[in-house]
Amino acid sequence: MSKNKITQLFKINYPIIQAGMVWASGWKLASAVSNAGGLGIIGAGSMYPEILKEHIEKCKKATNNPFAVNVPLLYPDIDKIMEIIIQEKVEIVFTSAGNPKTWTKYLQKHNIKVVHVVSGVKFALKSQEAGVDAVVAEGFEAGGHNGRDETTTFTLIPMVKEKITIPLIAAGGIATGHGMLAAMVLGADAVQVGSRFVASSEASSHKNFKEMIIKAQEGDTQLTLKELAPVRLLKNKFFEEVQKLYAKNPSREQLIELLGRARAKKGMFEGDLENGELEIGQISGLIHEIKPAAEIVKEMMEEFEIARKEVLDF
Ligand SMILES: Cc1cc2nc3c(=O)[nH]c(=O)nc-3n(C[C@H](O)[C@H](O)[C@H](O)COP(=O)(O)O)c2cc1C
Repeated sequence: MSKNKITQLFKINYPIIQAGMVWASGWKLASAVSNAGGLGIIGAGSMYPEILKEHIEKCKKATNNPFAVNVPLLYPDIDKIMEIIIQEKVEIVFTSAGNPKTWTKYLQKHNIKVVHVVSGVKFALKSQEAGVDAVVAEGFEAGGHNGRDETTTFTLIPMVKEKITIPLIAAGGIATGHGMLAAMVLGADAVQVGSRFVASSEASSHKNFKEMIIKAQEGDTQLTLKELAPVRLLKNKFFEEVQKLYAKNPSREQLIELLGRARAKKGMFEGDLENGELEIGQISGLIHEIKPAAEIVKEMMEEFEIARKEVLDF
C-alpha cells in the first residue's frame, strides 16, 4: 500500500490504528499492533500514573516502532499523566472526552503529535481550530463512550471530511478490510479499530469478556446511560437492571447509584459477565474468533486489497 497522510504523520506501514481502550489496551496489545505495522495505543484511562509509566516503559522495550497513548481528558490525575508522557518522550497522544484546546499546544511544544477524538462536525472543527494534527471521528456504532447525537460512521465521515482539511481517522463499526475500504472511500485517511482488538489474544480484557464478544450477534449491544455519559454496552444482567430502572423514570442520582463504582473494571477486566459493565461496539456481531493482534492487522490488509479489487471490477 502506498503512503498517505496518516501513515506519513505517524511513520507507520498501514493505516490501522488500534484504539486506546480502558481495561483492554495495555503495552502487550499496543506493542503487538505497532510491531505488525499499525499504530498501537496504550489506554491510560484505566491506569494510575505509575501504572501508565510502567506500560510505556514495557512498550518501548517490546517495539521499536511508533506507538501512542490515549488520554481521556476527564481523568482526575491529568497533570501527572501528561508529565509522565513528556518525561517518557511519548511521540503521539490521542486525547478524548474533553476540550482539545486545553492540552494540544502544550503537548505539541514538547514535540508530541496530538490527535483528538470527536463524535460530530462541530467538535471536529473545534479540534482543527485548536491545532490538532488529526482527528478521529467516531460514529454511534462504536464501543465505549459515545456522542449524544447518534450520528453513524457512514454519515459522520463524509460530513466531517467536507468541513476539515487536516487528516481524518474513522472509528466505529470497523473490524474488517472491507469496512476499512468503505471508511477510506468516504474520506478517511485511516481507521481506528476498537472492538476487534478487545477480542485479540494480547488484549488485557478478561477471557470471559472476549468469549462473550465472539458469541455476540447483531442487536446484542445498546447505547445507554445517556444522562451520565452515553455508553454502548453488551446486554447482560447489569444492562437489564439499568433498563428496569429507566422504566421508573429515574433521577440522575438514582442512575449514578446503580452504576456504582468500578463496574467497567468488574466486567471487562475481572470477567464478571453479570454485574459488570461490558463496553463493546455493534460490530461485535461480526467478530467470531479471538486472534493474535498481528493476525488481525494482516487479515484486515489482505481483505482491504481484495475489497479494493472487487470494487474496481464492478
Ligand atoms: C472496551 C472499550 C474501551 C474503550 N475505552 C476508550 C478510552 O479509554 N478512551 C477513548 O478515547 N475511547 C475508548 N473507547 C472507544 C475506542 O477508542 C474506539 O474509538 C471505538 O472502540 C471504535 O469503535 P469500534 O469499537 O466499533 O471499533 C473504548 C472502546 C471499547 C470497546
